[in-house]
Amino acid sequence: MKVLVCGGSGYIGSHTIVELLAKGHEVVVVDNHVNSSPQSLKHVARIVGVDIEAIHCDIRDPSALDAVFSRHNFDAVIHFASLKSHTESWRQPLLYYENNVTGTISLLQAMFRAKVSRLIFSSSAAVYGSSDVTPIPESAALCPSSPYGRTKLVVENMIQELGATHLDFQATVLRYFNPVGAHPSGLIGEDPIGAPSNLMPYLCQVAAGRFPFLPIYGDDYPTHDGTAVRDYIHVVDLARAHARALEYMRECDETFVVNVGTGCGYSVLDVVAAFESVSGCQIPLSYMPRRAGDIAKSVASPISARQRLRWEAEYDLHKMCEDAWRWQSTYPHGYRMN
Ligand SMILES: NC(=O)c1ccc[n+]([C@@H]2O[C@H](COP(=O)([O-])OP(=O)(O)OC[C@H]3O[C@@H](n4cnc5c(N)ncnc54)[C@H](O)[C@@H]3O)[C@@H](O)[C@H]2O)c1
Repeated sequence: MKVLVCGGSGYIGSHTIVELLAKGHEVVVVDNHVNSSPQSLKHVARIVGVDIEAIHCDIRDPSALDAVFSRHNFDAVIHFASLKSHTESWRQPLLYYENNVTGTISLLQAMFRAKVSRLIFSSSAAVYGSSDVTPIPESAALCPSSPYGRTKLVVENMIQELGATHLDFQATVLRYFNPVGAHPSGLIGEDPIGAPSNLMPYLCQVAAGRFPFLPIYGDDYPTHDGTAVRDYIHVVDLARAHARALEYMRECDETFVVNVGTGCGYSVLDVVAAFESVSGCQIPLSYMPRRAGDIAKSVASPISARQRLRWEAEYDLHKMCEDAWRWQSTYPHGYRMN
């Protein structure tokens, strides 16, 4: 298929492009680089051996999107282009609604004008909020605990409504749990602009000497060691779930939602211990109060992904840490210093 990848210069997008090209799909990327470097796709090109067509474009710009759609006949769109920090979304909720919700409306309108009817949307476990069920099935109550999570839920609802009312529209909503790790080549990985808001990139940047210590937000959660538990998934496994979802769209024309996780939960301290053993680095820790909207435990039920998409995660926490550290130690300053 020919696929428009929105936000394809970012962390998950760049890894997904590698997997899509490996399956013989064609890709075109649009990205405004608000949280990524155009260099990432040059690194992707070194892995896959072909250049990637990339257009600097904001998905909130209808005429720029129309120009892209008029030049290509896309079979599908994969939509990664959103802002993703829970913490920042509390500080700038309007920015988050504007970028994530208005941006998606603009993209969907452009798809409709161009008669492109297949969409894969990056949603998040954040839509569940503090679920009291573990592992969390897709049918669990949706109660996001941050403005970021609420933007994802608004978009999910919009997509479900389009699926129900427009027979030719078909969407797969992937609710990612906690993507970490990097491509095993060490050529691409997570390279956030500014201080990372997620555990693994922060951990890597402490080990690389960019930060003096790892802040741990909350040590009094009701978990085995008091720190928050998450379902970490290797980004290459997640990327492969997109390639599988794209193939599945040929077999099934329903709009549906599926969790993408491993079904295993690890605490912050479990991840720190795994990372220290893989990297040989000692990570200084500093305990801080809980952050607004953070929850104790979030672990996916991966059953639906296994049954529907015939996909499941292959890589364990050790491999996630090993690949994340290979990327960070090869490129301590990310894409900016090479
Ligand atoms: N990484 C995670 O932990 C995680 C977890 C759950 C869901 N998600 C979702 O997955 C998607 C991809 O996440 P990621 O980790 O790769 O993030 P990322 O920030 O690395 O990638 C997102 C990309 O979208 C681009 N972008 C943002 N707004 C845009 C706009 N208006 N127009 C054009 N481009 C725009 C950014 O520049 C960036 O390259 C996001 O939608 C995110 O909400 C991520």
